[in-house]
Amino acid sequence: MKVAIAADHGGYTLKEEIRKYLESEGIEYEDFGCNCEDSVDYPDYALPVAEKVATGAFDRGILICGTGVGMSIAANKVKGIRCALVHDCFTAKATREHNDSNVLAMGERVVGPGLALEIAKIWLGTEFSAGRHLRRVEKIKEIEDNQ
Ligand code: RB5
Repeated sequence: MKVAIAADHGGYTLKEEIRKYLESEGIEYEDFGCNCEDSVDYPDYALPVAEKVATGAFDRGILICGTGVGMSIAANKVKGIRCALVHDCFTAKATREHNDSNVLAMGERVVGPGLALEIAKIWLGTEFSAGRHLRRVEKIKEIEDNQ
């Protein structure tokens, strides 16, 4: 699995924790910044990750900002992206099983690093259930196609 990760200044520290986790697990990843806590604009970091996932260059994306909200809104503007804003383990599993979410957003100012890493582990390790959920995801794609 290839994972694209990025954060703004509000998520930089947590992004580094995620990056170290991916590194330690031998999970292939690319870090699209930012690289320090200087103030930046989250859409500039959400877009490259979302585009890489939408084109299939990467299998999944992880985006971190202060709340996760800005990153998730921006990522979901890219066709083919199903970005889930997740701050609990139940949703991490459910959004993979039910929504086939391909980008995970989290807020560094919302969750601590311990919970965030658990969420990332669960989200990365859970497969889409397909079945009845596939029909619903197909309907999301129809909405995109009709816009
Ligand atoms: C930056 O201050 C903050 O607005 C950003 O990290 C994020 O929370 C936006 O949704």
